[in-house]
Amino acid sequence: MPGLLKMSQIRALSLWMLMVVLQLVLVPSQLAGCLLNPCLEVIPNKTFSCMGLNVSGVPAEIPHTTQNLDLSFNNLQSLGSNYFSSVPELQLLDLTRCHLHTIEDNSFKDLQKLSTLILTANSLQYLGTAAFNGLTSLKKLVLVETNIASLTDLPIGHLHTLQELNLGHNNIASLKLPKYFTNLTSLRHLSFLSNKITYISKGDLDALKEVNRLNLTLELSLNNIKHIQPGSFAKIHLGELGLRASFGNFSVMHTSLQGLTGLQVNRLIAGEFSDSEKLVDFQRGLLSGLCQVQMQEFILVCVRGFEDDTDTLFNCLGNVSSIRLVNLQLEKMSEVPMFSQVKQLECKKCKFQEVPATKLSLFKELRVLRITKNKNLSSFRQKFESLRNLEVVDLSENHLSFYSCCSPLFPGCPNLKYLNLSYNSIIRITGDFTNVKNLLYLDLQHTNLFGPGSYPVFLSLQKLIYLDISHTRTHVKSQCTFCGLNSLRVLKMAGNSFENNQLANNFKNLSHLHTLDISSCKLVQVDKNTFDALSELKELNISNNKLLSFDPVVYKPLQALTALDLSNNQLSVLVDSALGILPDSLVLLDISQNLFECSCTNLNFLKWVKEKQDLLQNRELMICHTPVYVKNMSLSSFDLHSCQLKASTVAFSVIALLAAAVFLFLIYKYYFQLYYSLVLLSGCKHTAERGDTYDAFVIHSSKDQEWVMKELVEPLEGGTPPFQLCLYYRDFLPGVPIVTNIIQEGFLSSRNVIAVISTDFLESKWCSFEFDIAQSWQLVEGKAGIIMIVLGEVNKTLLRQRLGLSRYLRRNTYLEWTNKEISRHIFWRQLTAVLLEGKKWNHEEAKLM
Ligand SMILES: *[C@@H]1O[C@H](CO)[C@@H](O)[C@H](O)[C@H]1NC(C)=O
Ligand SMILES: *[C@@H]1O[C@H](CO)[C@@H](O)[C@H](O)[C@H]1NC(C)=O
Ligand SMILES: *[C@@H]1O[C@H](CO)[C@@H](O)[C@H](O)[C@H]1NC(C)=O
Ligand SMILES: *[C@@H]1O[C@H](CO)[C@@H](O)[C@H](O)[C@H]1NC(C)=O
Ligand SMILES: *[C@@H]1O[C@H](CO)[C@@H](O)[C@H](O)[C@H]1NC(C)=O
Ligand SMILES: *[C@@H]1O[C@H](CO)[C@@H](O)[C@H](O)[C@H]1NC(C)=O
Ligand SMILES: *[C@@H]1O[C@H](CO)[C@@H](O)[C@H](O)[C@H]1NC(C)=O
Ligand SMILES: *[C@@H]1O[C@H](CO)[C@@H](O)[C@H](O)[C@H]1NC(C)=O
Ligand SMILES: *[C@@H]1O[C@H](CO)[C@@H](O)[C@H](O)[C@H]1NC(C)=O
Ligand SMILES: *[C@@H]1O[C@H](CO)[C@@H](O)[C@H](O)[C@H]1NC(C)=O
Ligand SMILES: *[C@@H]1O[C@H](CO)[C@@H](O)[C@H](O)[C@H]1NC(C)=O
Repeated sequence: MPGLLKMSQIRALSLWMLMVVLQLVLVPSQLAGCLLNPCLEVIPNKTFSCMGLNVSGVPAEIPHTTQNLDLSFNNLQSLGSNYFSSVPELQLLDLTRCHLHTIEDNSFKDLQKLSTLILTANSLQYLGTAAFNGLTSLKKLVLVETNIASLTDLPIGHLHTLQELNLGHNNIASLKLPKYFTNLTSLRHLSFLSNKITYISKGDLDALKEVNRLNLTLELSLNNIKHIQPGSFAKIHLGELGLRASFGNFSVMHTSLQGLTGLQVNRLIAGEFSDSEKLVDFQRGLLSGLCQVQMQEFILVCVRGFEDDTDTLFNCLGNVSSIRLVNLQLEKMSEVPMFSQVKQLECKKCKFQEVPATKLSLFKELRVLRITKNKNLSSFRQKFESLRNLEVVDLSENHLSFYSCCSPLFPGCPNLKYLNLSYNSIIRITGDFTNVKNLLYLDLQHTNLFGPGSYPVFLSLQKLIYLDISHTRTHVKSQCTFCGLNSLRVLKMAGNSFENNQLANNFKNLSHLHTLDISSCKLVQVDKNTFDALSELKELNISNNKLLSFDPVVYKPLQALTALDLSNNQLSVLVDSALGILPDSLVLLDISQNLFECSCTNLNFLKWVKEKQDLLQNRELMICHTPVYVKNMSLSSFDLHSCQLKASTVAFSVIALLAAAVFLFLIYKYYFQLYYSLVLLSGCKHTAERGDTYDAFVIHSSKDQEWVMKELVEPLEGGTPPFQLCLYYRDFLPGVPIVTNIIQEGFLSSRNVIAVISTDFLESKWCSFEFDIAQSWQLVEGKAGIIMIVLGEVNKTLLRQRLGLSRYLRRNTYLEWTNKEISRHIFWRQLTAVLLEGKKWNHEEAKLM
């Protein structure tokens, strides 16, 4: 390489850029790694993709541990010896479209573990005779589109391990296999697809005879074969021979097939490719050469123009056990040879208009029949008769409409086990299955059905284990719709409907059911006993309905469930008891796309969701629906702590509220006392200034007002000396709170307190309160005395209780008012004396005295 570098330096300045890049590749790894686009590390240390990076060698960053290396779409140009020494562990090397023109000897020498080498789309000009030396494990060599014209010099004779050699899209003109092919004893697949092979001669394939190759696939499609010399394939055993689009016209194909005489092949594929049809018409005797070929399976693909002469189609195919006809414009079934051995017959995308049952009934050994994807196939009137081996009939994906399914169509076919009529147009199920009562599988999905739902049509299918009537516009009215299906294991009936959108004991006797699909059935409700018989049910799909709740009572019998799909319903939560009945066997639960309520009331459920991450499917679709502020949030990202926080917040606020309520209640109850205390605290100052406006503050019940006015106020204020009394109804300042008045105007401005004590007084809370204040006032101030005037007949016990100690305090005066003249005299004297005590005289009063 350094030599090469020098040369290019000298050669031209225009190559300067190339040189720089080459140098970068040759300089130590890190630098190159930094400056060039890095390769993609698909699997760490193992798989690297350097596709399309315009590198010109194995990038230095690729570690020696690499096993898979994709170097496709680069600019390698030529490979020299030991080119891949830095990656000796390689198992797969892809060098597709690398502008390779030269592969020198020992280029791959170090790749002893390489099993796949891909050299597609390199126009090789020089391939050293030892180019592939060292590839002792190579299994697959792809030399597609590599400009190879001859097998002779291909240096692969020593690749004993080779299993697949792909030489497609080259210029190889001769199928003469060189002697070295006898060395390739492991070869299983040899492809000459799209080469230039025109003649195949006797002896060309002799190399295949010498080794016992029972299962080689030889692909000769897309060549332009003009002639096959008879005997070329004699005594050759092949697994598969591909001859699609290999012949230029009908007569060439006809004669060439004659040349296959003596071939033994498991599978022969003939015909065309849909995009490269050479044959215009199928003509009489086209396949007559195949009479001399022993084969198991014959496949004919993409042949048009079967107008006439289709009857010879099967002439040489009577001993074949399997025939597939794909994409043929076959409108009528061909004549069936006597003593046909055909066991499997498939017609896919043919052009039948009617199921050719009468002719098909001549394939006496027929076991499997498939007629599918026939767009024009609409009628089924002929009968399959006396096909005792017939087990499988697949008529799916046609346009069949018929009205007498199924017994009358299969007289004498007692072994029919599988009947697929899915994806057709309209079928009436009569309920008569007498001829086919051994059916195990019946698939009717996506075909409009008449019969099921209205009455019990499946009564005689006692052995059936699989029934699919999904999307058949079945409306289940009869509770006995599935009666008789006592062996049924799988029931699929998605996309139908039930009476009242409700499941009501529809699955009574299906005690062996393992799988039940009732998705997309518009279900709103499931009745209590619906699932009672389904104790063996493993899979239940009830998704895409409108269920509002998951009632534990309903689902309790399903104790064998392993998979439950409840997605896309309208559940808001699974309640605790519902979570409780989910069986331990459950491994798959889908509750996505429901209308979940993500509030702390469902805390248990939300917790459970977090714990069961393994069980729950489609977790990314489990989304909160309400409340609005968490809408569209994933259920598993719901913050559980926010609930605990909320719980404590709630507790806290409840306590705070209670405290506030108690506080307010206390304030309400002791408003006056509190207020009074407040005033007391600030009130002491005022006493000196205001103390003596009144001689006494009279507290009394409003009911005693008359007595107070007449017997107390008039004599005291009008007498000599006149005393000034404070009366609430007269002297209190308007617009000032009553308590303020009591305290400011009453107690603070008066020297004494006169309490007029009557039965009413004792009963009045207000009076008691005033009296209490007076007592406290007296205690605090130590000044005013309380003059207690007890009126008439007062309950003495109550009185003692109420007045308490106050009555006996020295400073207080206890007076009783009676109607006796003498007592009143004493009363007045005592009262006047008390009131005079400490009285300050003002000017006028002093004059009067
Ligand atoms: C690829 O690299 C070669 C030199 O190795 C250079 O001449 C060419 O322009 C490059 N092509 C692209 C597309 O970068
Ligand atoms: C890849 O190889 C490097 C160096 O040999 C080593 O340090 C690293 O652990 C390997 N990584 C893995 C995933 O094997
Ligand atoms: C075939 O294999 C033998 C034994 O391995 C070897 O000696 C011989 O050279 C091989 N033939 C060719 C054409 O490579
Ligand atoms: C023959 O090879 C094909 C694939 O090429 C494989 O499907 C088939 O099973 C093989 N048959 C035998 C008998 O090995
Ligand atoms: C078929 O092709 C061969 C060779 O290409 C040619 O000789 C012959 O005339 C063709 N026959 C018809 C009927 O086209
Ligand atoms: C089928 O095989 C039998 C003998 O096994 C043979 O007589 C008959 O000719 C064969 N038929 C065809 C069409 O190859
Ligand atoms: C078959 O179907 C195609 C379209 O699918 C229609 O054009 C054609 O007329 C049909 N042929 C017959 C014979 O019904
Ligand atoms: C019936 O045929 C349809 C369409 O080909 C296919 O999808 C389905 O799996 C078949 N049913 C059974 C039970 O094999
Ligand atoms: C229910 O099934 C049992 C056997 O599994 C059968 O004997 C019985 O007749 C069935 N009942 C109905 C109504 O199909
Ligand atoms: C349930 O049925 C729906 C369609 O109706 C399907 O998409 C889904 O995959 C099914 N669930 C399971 C678990 O098979
Ligand atoms: C929720 O998602 C839907 C669809 O992705 C969107 O239409 C809707 O506006 C979203 N609602 C909120 C509240 O984000």
